[in-house]
Amino acid sequence: MTKKTIKKAVIPVAGLGTRFLPATKAIPKEMLTIVDRPTIQYIVEEVVASGIEEVILITSAGKSAIENHFDYDFQLDTVLKEKNKTVLRDELANISNLIDIVSVRQKQPLGLGHAIWMARNVIGDEPFLVLLGDDLVRSPVPCCKQMIDLYNRVGESIVAIQRVPLSQTFQYGIVEGEETEHERTFKVRRMVEKPAPGTSDSDMAIIGRYLLMPEIFELLAKTTPGHGGEIQLTDALQALSNRRGMYAYEFIGRRYDAGDKLGYLKAIVDFALEHPDLGTAFSDHLNKKLSGNG
Ligand code: G1P
Repeated sequence: MTKKTIKKAVIPVAGLGTRFLPATKAIPKEMLTIVDRPTIQYIVEEVVASGIEEVILITSAGKSAIENHFDYDFQLDTVLKEKNKTVLRDELANISNLIDIVSVRQKQPLGLGHAIWMARNVIGDEPFLVLLGDDLVRSPVPCCKQMIDLYNRVGESIVAIQRVPLSQTFQYGIVEGEETEHERTFKVRRMVEKPAPGTSDSDMAIIGRYLLMPEIFELLAKTTPGHGGEIQLTDALQALSNRRGMYAYEFIGRRYDAGDKLGYLKAIVDFALEHPDLGTAFSDHLNKKLSGNG
């Protein structure tokens, strides 16, 4: 049977961003900047670089800045044109031409599983990707592209994982499973959302990249509130894994938790050091600072 192509990606952005208050009182956390672009732009760029054709944003009130960021701004473009700011105009045009974006409102904050369920009518009967905006991944081959390549071999759902210290597993969805003949790939046996310390001896943590079969929607509809009283995606994934199998893939690359203040700062430093225009000057500054001369 030929495998269906992955054409759509869901990005839930309805969360309040309380961890970054007061910075996120009036702007969405996805619009916080890393060097010269908002975090959501890195996520959308990963999607585009992985060959996806359409993004579905799951939004809530107060998130219109995200839609505006990827839209064409006629007034701004007219002003830049009058001022002959060609490079800037091109850069903004590139952002608004990146990809087609559809928004769906999540009217109640019932959890990540519920947010993904909101995409059911736009996705229809196709496998699709989910990317969580807090997880930024730097890698030579985009993380989603690595997952699509694996899907083309295994033809089932995949969650991206990374190893974390056992003392941190309570912060993640944790996967237990067995190695397969595919490199860095495990067959999922059990998944548990944020296990209490000592209740799982696996260090395989789900990061915010999923490739899912459309049956997930039917299972999400039946998922009752779990950890934290929320409808958890991980609980529906366990059901999907029982029904037709699922793989966990230890992706190649570095992940930043931009939803955490320290992780966000690490991303800023690393992305700035790698920036083509700023990297050298920023590195000089850091070296001076760390040696007490800055
Ligand atoms: C969510 C998922 C969790 C996953 C994590 C990755 O949790 O529920 O399974 O490990 O993202 O970032 P959150 O961090 O939104 O609480």
